[in-house]
Amino acid sequence: MANVLVTGGCGFIGRHVAAELIGAGHGVRLYDAMIEQVHGSDGAAADIPPEAAVIRGDMRDATRLAEALQDCDAVIHLAAEVGVGQSMYEIARYVGANDLGTAVLLEAIANQPVRRLVVASSMSIYGEGYYALPSGQLYDGARRRKQDLREGRWQPAGPGGEALEAVPTDETKRPDLASIYALTKYQQEQACLIFGAAYDVPTVALRLFNVFGAGQALSNPYTGVLANFASRLANGERPTIFEDGQQQRDFVHVRDVARAFRLALEAEEVADETFNIGSGNAYSIEQVASLLAQAMDRRDLEPEVLGRFRAGDIRNCFADIGKARAWLGFKPEHRLEDSLGPFVEWVRQAPAEDRGTQMRSELEVRGLVS
Ligand code: UD1
Repeated sequence: MANVLVTGGCGFIGRHVAAELIGAGHGVRLYDAMIEQVHGSDGAAADIPPEAAVIRGDMRDATRLAEALQDCDAVIHLAAEVGVGQSMYEIARYVGANDLGTAVLLEAIANQPVRRLVVASSMSIYGEGYYALPSGQLYDGARRRKQDLREGRWQPAGPGGEALEAVPTDETKRPDLASIYALTKYQQEQACLIFGAAYDVPTVALRLFNVFGAGQALSNPYTGVLANFASRLANGERPTIFEDGQQQRDFVHVRDVARAFRLALEAEEVADETFNIGSGNAYSIEQVASLLAQAMDRRDLEPEVLGRFRAGDIRNCFADIGKARAWLGFKPEHRLEDSLGPFVEWVRQAPAEDRGTQMRSELEVRGLVS
C-alpha cells in the first residue's frame, strides 16, 4: 500500500481518484488550490472522502508543495487549468499553472524522491484523431483550415481533398497541438516522462478522453460539453451546439478513469509509457445532447445548432484503448448511455448556474468563435 499525493485532488477527477485509492487501502493526501472558477467563492469542496488529508496550496508554491510531499511514496499529478476555449485567451494563467506548476512539482520530487509518478495527460495532444483515406490507408495529418471552417466545411479532408473517415486513435498518433491547453498538457506529460527517466522514478501518463460523471463543475462553462448541456437544461435553456453537432468524441466515466489511475499506480512493472483512457466508443455531440435531454426529461428544449466554431476545437477524436486493456487490465464499466440516469440525479441536486452565454461572449469578443 502506498501513501499517495494527489495534486488537483479536490477537483472532479481527483475526488473520484481519492475514493478509489482509499477503497483499495492506500493513504491519500490531496493538494489543491481550490480555485473559485471550479469550487465557487466559499472554496468549499463537497464529496471529499473523510479519510483523505487536504492541503490547500498553489502548484507554484515550492515550500507548501514540499511539505505536502513529505512521506509520500507516489504522486498522481492532476492539477491543471482545463478549459480549451479559455486557454486561448488566459494564456499566461494556463501556462503558469500547468507548465510551471509541473516544473515546481518535479523539483520537489527530485528533493524527496517517490517510487511512482502518474500524470494526467489529455487526448487534446493528438489534435485531430486518426482518419482513414478512401483507400483504407491510415491518415494522421488531418487539420482544419480557418477558411474551410468559415465556409462551414467542418469535416477535415485528405491531402488531395479526399473524404476522410474518422477511426479510433491509439498512442502511436503524432501529437498535433491545436490549443494552448493542449500544448500545456503535452508539456506536463513530457516533462514528467523526461524527469522520470532521468531520475529513475517510474512514470506513466494517462491520456484522458472526455471525462463525465457526478461532480463535474456545472457552473464552470469551460468544463466539458456534458456539464454545459446539463446546466443549460437544468435552467430551462436550450443547449447550444457548435458546428453542426456531428463532431465525435469519446465519453469516459469518471469512475472508470479513477480505476485507470489506481491500475497505473499499482502496475509496478510498467514505466515510461503513455496510455489512452477512454471508453473506446464514439458519440456525436448532437447524440449526446439528445441522450441528455431525454434523461432529464426536457426533450422540449431542442438544441440550438449554431453553425459556428470555437478556436482550438478539433472535429473528431475517439480512443483505441487496446494498450491500456493489455498492459493495465483497464476495462471500462460505465457506458454513457447507461450512466445518464445517475448523472441526472446528481445534476438535480447540484447548484448549476448557467454561464454558457458568458462563455460565448468571452470567446466572441476576442474573435475566438467564428
Ligand atoms: C477538451 C480537451 C480535453 C479536455 C476537455 C475538458 C481537446 C481536443 N480536448 O475536449 O482534453 O479534457 O476539453 O476541458 O482539446 N461543444 C458544444 N457546446 C458546448 C460546449 C462544447 O457544442 O456548449 C462542443 C465543442 O465545440 C466540441 C465538443 O462539444 O466540438 C466537445 O467540447 P468540450 O466538452 O469542451 O471538450 P473537448 O474540446 O472535446
